Amino acid sequence: MNYLILVHKGLKTIKPIVRLRWGVMTALNVEKFRELTPSEFFYRNREIAGFSNPVRALYQTVRELVENALDATDAHGILPNIRIVIRRESGTSREGIYSIMVEDNGIGIPPNHVPQAFGQLLYSSKYVLRQTRGMFGLGAKMAVLYGQITTGKAVEVVTSPINSVRTYYFKLRIDIKHNKPIVLKKASYPKINGWHGTIVKLYIEGDWSRARSKIYEYLRRTAIIAPYAEILFEDPDGNVIFFERRTSKMPPPPKEVKPHPHGVDIEMVKMMIHSSSAGTLKEFLVKEFQCIGEVTALRLIEQAGLNPDINPKELSIDEIEKLVRVIRTSKDIRPPKANHLSFLGEEIIKTGLKSILNPEFVEAVTRKPSVYEGHSFIVEVGLAYGGAIKPSDKPILLRYANKIPLLYDEGSDVSRKIVDSIDWSYYNVTFPAPLVILVHICSTKIPYKGVGKESIADVPEIEREIELAIRDVARKLKTYIAKKRKEREEAEKAVAIAKYIPDVANALAKIFEDIPREKIEKELLKLLNKKLKTFKITSLDSIVISVE
Ligand SMILES: Nc1ncnc2c1ncn2[C@@H]1O[C@H](COP(=O)(O)OP(=O)(O)O)[C@@H](O)[C@H]1O
Ligand SMILES: [Mg+2]
Repeated sequence: MNYLILVHKGLKTIKPIVRLRWGVMTALNVEKFRELTPSEFFYRNREIAGFSNPVRALYQTVRELVENALDATDAHGILPNIRIVIRRESGTSREGIYSIMVEDNGIGIPPNHVPQAFGQLLYSSKYVLRQTRGMFGLGAKMAVLYGQITTGKAVEVVTSPINSVRTYYFKLRIDIKHNKPIVLKKASYPKINGWHGTIVKLYIEGDWSRARSKIYEYLRRTAIIAPYAEILFEDPDGNVIFFERRTSKMPPPPKEVKPHPHGVDIEMVKMMIHSSSAGTLKEFLVKEFQCIGEVTALRLIEQAGLNPDINPKELSIDEIEKLVRVIRTSKDIRPPKANHLSFLGEEIIKTGLKSILNPEFVEAVTRKPSVYEGHSFIVEVGLAYGGAIKPSDKPILLRYANKIPLLYDEGSDVSRKIVDSIDWSYYNVTFPAPLVILVHICSTKIPYKGVGKESIADVPEIEREIELAIRDVARKLKTYIAKKRKEREEAEKAVAIAKYIPDVANALAKIFEDIPREKIEKELLKLLNKKLKTFKITSLDSIVISVE
């Protein structure tokens, strides 16, 4: 060190400079190079996956495990039964050690994949083009990793795959340095009562009192978007909340698709060529992409100036580049199909909103499929108004992506931007108003702003669809509010008139002595009721008209 300072100081005063500069460079710029495994990277940067502090970590753990449970059920046509138990293991009512257990009745996990599924970051069964909640191969492992570094405890997994006759038990931890699972215990038993599914239990340092409201809100929003699920939650204070199944109608399971030519790049095509068994370029295009038939394939290959019979593995980088340029921009290719997407549909959205929010008015719309950068997507919007919804200064927004509720970073989300840009007075809404807007985007590729999956980027095509969908349901709300207003005006007028009927009847009875007063009153009321369109007044003793 002394030497360094000496040389450093010497730079200003001592000559010759050239020799000294060499000395400084070698002494100061010796860097140690080494590789970081994914586990090490996420261990150091856990906040980017949503594990920044004990509050977020508790919420994120519940979320990741519940997402996996739902992916293992509804994505495979199984009506989800999910049980979540959080227990305080030690500590005060604030920060402390909590155990989190999530159980599902899903397809289970093949035992040979369990260690990596929970003990190796970036290991997933979802690295295919299919609409699932999970997509990064991180969630479960981040929870295991966070638990391991804050409590030192291992994760326990019990699973019985749907087509297996056995149940498997694993206790494992992550070797962070090598990004590999370390299995501490494993066992297997015969299947009991035909049960299939998975139970995951892990321990983390958390802060229940501050995570509480977020976790409850997350579950409530999950219940809104998945009214076909049964969710039981036991919290650390001993409270139990049960969201019962309100419909057995489920969205169709998502299907895996081939990439669309507009959504690929050079690296992806290289990987596709590497794993393809196609013997010719023409066969490669037809077999590995969606929306390319033989005729289109030949046309595209011609436009790229290539030979249709060449083995794709023999293409040079330049040739692949030419091919990609043509297929990415070609107008000859049909837009991507959307029949693989799993959207909820208007009925399920309305059921979810009605049963959880208890509104007076509910509406929903599912837009037709659309496309951004070669990925098809569908936007669905629900609207709930009045009833048990508390008025707020701007619309309450419920954001969802592939059926995942998004709770954080609302301010930077594309949907918030659009909801706030709409002039709601045009739709007869004046704030504070009891208005909830639900926005659901489904796609094989959601443009999240981060791996924590909390907000969606401003993609113009998606923006446009969201706005059209919101305006669509808002128009229906406008008609409803206008109708209600008319009813109220009519009611007010009717009451004003009805108030005078007894006096008028009295006066008339004096003129027409032979007609009883009651009869005149009855006739006058009949006359008034004839003019009323939306309701009738049945008695004048107490005029009660309920107007919201
Ligand atoms: N409850 C579960 N049921 C079935 N499979 C599961 C369950 N939890 C995790 N898995 C499997 O473990 C893999 C890794 O999960 P995870 O780390 O959350 O990443 P991702 O969900 O993004 O794939 C999943 O792809 C899935 O195959
Ligand atoms: Mg996951």
